[in-house]
Amino acid sequence: MTEPFALVTGTTGFIAARLVPALLTEGWRVRATGRRPRPDDLPDAAEYVPADLVADDLAELCAGVTHVFHLAGASSSKSSQEEMDRDNVDATARLLDAASHVERFVHMSSTSIYGEEKQLPLPVREDVEPNASRGYGKAKWGAEQEVWARGRQGVPVVVLRPVTVYGPGATKLLASAILDTAIERAAGLPRLAVAAEPMEQRLVHIDDLIAASLHLAAAPDAVGRAFNVVDGIYPSSHDVAAVLAGCFGMDVEVGGEGLDEDRRRRVHERMVSQGMEPAILFTPDRLRLMTKTNRNNRLSTEALDSTGFRLARTDFAAAVADNVDWYRSKRWLPG
Ligand SMILES: NC(=O)c1ccc[n+]([C@@H]2O[C@H](COP(=O)([O-])OP(=O)(O)OC[C@H]3O[C@@H](n4cnc5c(N)ncnc54)[C@H](OP(=O)(O)O)[C@@H]3O)[C@@H](O)[C@H]2O)c1
Repeated sequence: MTEPFALVTGTTGFIAARLVPALLTEGWRVRATGRRPRPDDLPDAAEYVPADLVADDLAELCAGVTHVFHLAGASSSKSSQEEMDRDNVDATARLLDAASHVERFVHMSSTSIYGEEKQLPLPVREDVEPNASRGYGKAKWGAEQEVWARGRQGVPVVVLRPVTVYGPGATKLLASAILDTAIERAAGLPRLAVAAEPMEQRLVHIDDLIAASLHLAAAPDAVGRAFNVVDGIYPSSHDVAAVLAGCFGMDVEVGGEGLDEDRRRRVHERMVSQGMEPAILFTPDRLRLMTKTNRNNRLSTEALDSTGFRLARTDFAAAVADNVDWYRSKRWLPG
């Protein structure tokens, strides 16, 4: 049997940076890539080749690899629509052209492709016609179209569709909400205010997404299919606020507003001047993750379940507490 040799894209980012050590532990040979120079914490055992997937020749990057884990992409937190289209759709098309020889092409998509506005049958199954409402979801669906087109031509493709991913290394979404809580704690607030109307959340822990990626790279019945990846807990915004508040010794105030943006910014600057690494994204809107409604929130996990995969990080409160400890250990939050 050929030695498994993975090309992992997006390794200067959050998820792929966690996938590389997991692959090495499982005995894979790994070639990692990103646009920026080699990250300091990339394991020595991984080869690193910097490349822009939309501008550089990708033949050498893909030479010899048996598998591709394609995680590079651009999201709305940091990129314009033009960048999202280019770095998701064009990059995926070019990579597929250069890697059509692989045994498996594992593509990281997103449940944002389903959209939030048009009601889809619930729980949302992977074979539904997607209806992305926002630019990011549209770009991720555009990238998937490229994947499915190559799949029809015989490339063995597998698509993962995770929800919001949290855990060590995350810098956006739940991470920003954790930062918001730390800011209000540092400002001396005893309670974390959350909007009165509860809003259902959907999350998955990074460890489970990495385990699902490894599992689907080998599962015999995964080729040609898409898989929702969600922890199935669906906490309300009030539940999430209670967990976050608990990590910082605060109570929850349902219906309150919290600090305004200016005050939050000033406290954040003070935290950074006192030695906190500004690694977690500060968002002008506090608890932004918990302000978006989604009528298609509930997702079917029948497809992933049918492959024999089981999630491990299903104690949400414990996982968030571990995550906060990790941020403190890296000084991404004050100790
Ligand atoms: N994080 C989530 O909650 C979440 C949820 C669902 C789906 N996803 C999907 O999962 C994947 C990974 O997400 P993430 O949060 O780890 O992303 P991230 O931290 O924003 O990292 C994005 C990565 O993509 C690379 N990249 C972007 N454009 C590129 C290009 N033209 N050429 C080469 N590399 C390029 C970046 O490289 P440089 O930084 O070096 O420029 C970086 O390594 C993405 O496809 C995302 O859509 C993420």
